[in-house]
Amino acid sequence: MNNKGEHLINFKGYNFERSLVKMNIVENIDNQDIRDDDIFIVTYPKSGTIWTQQILSLIYFEGHRNNTENIQTTDRAPFFEYNILNVDFAKMPSPRIFCSHLPYYLVPKVFKNKKVKVLYIYRNPKDVLTSYFHFINWIVVPEASKTVEAFMQAFLDGRVVGSNWFDHIRGWYEHRHDFNIMFLSYEDMKKDLRGSVLKICSFLEKELSEEDVDAVVRQATFQNMKSDPRANKDDIMKKEIGTGNDQGTFLRKGTIGDWKHHLTVGQNERFDRIFKRNMKNIPLKFIWDINEE
Ligand code: PPS
Repeated sequence: MNNKGEHLINFKGYNFERSLVKMNIVENIDNQDIRDDDIFIVTYPKSGTIWTQQILSLIYFEGHRNNTENIQTTDRAPFFEYNILNVDFAKMPSPRIFCSHLPYYLVPKVFKNKKVKVLYIYRNPKDVLTSYFHFINWIVVPEASKTVEAFMQAFLDGRVVGSNWFDHIRGWYEHRHDFNIMFLSYEDMKKDLRGSVLKICSFLEKELSEEDVDAVVRQATFQNMKSDPRANKDDIMKKEIGTGNDQGTFLRKGTIGDWKHHLTVGQNERFDRIFKRNMKNIPLKFIWDINEE
């Protein structure tokens, strides 16, 4: 293990947030108790993790869907390697839902028996970068990059939690045949939330009534999640992570194309060149603008 940057800890070539990661899990990954029916939401940071946690919580827990239980979304579908709330994984009822930012090569080997379901949510990386830039400057990260230019360089170099975005998505995509995996984009969810919920249900072999699907969709919209204390991460951000000011919110803009307000023409062109070079042979569809089909 070698360490770089104050808040990063590097393990096998991948950067974790030092103060939050449970290294006992990461270092003993193959000894973790994984059940055949476990479901993992896998994302690169800022790609729609909490959104998908909320969707799956609504799909699987009636009490979440009809609002009769007040349990945090992050407790229903906890982070695997960042189990900061110390959820007792062994006590979770099956099927358990986890989320994770792990790269394909650090997940438990048992995933390759193809029973564990992996839902990989990806987002266009210019919006990831923009969301990440705001997030890192809102939470208390001493080395936060104050300019988009500096952050963009750190992002492209992989000097951030989650390491290099291209490595993350390429790794999972190129090894997709080793896993029981479905890829879905943030933009698809944004443009057709109902259709995306149905795709997720079909992958998870979960049948819901029309009314239940409606209830999931209603409570997974940006506005409704933002005002839902179970889902907006306000508490977790204030109590567990720490923020630099009271103005920011975890659910910030929740849209497609906010990068246009933050990247210069030059930065955008540079990003496009790097994207083209790194995403050769990856046929995943990317949507960069809210009006794009
Ligand atoms: S993290 O820190 O990696 O867990 O962050 P993550 O949850 O992956 O990503 C946060 C961004 O997702 C947006 N978000 C949503 N967008 C649209 N609709 C819904 N319902 C929704 N829920 C969360 C959130 O606003 C962050 O994006 P930005 O662009 O910063 O708004």
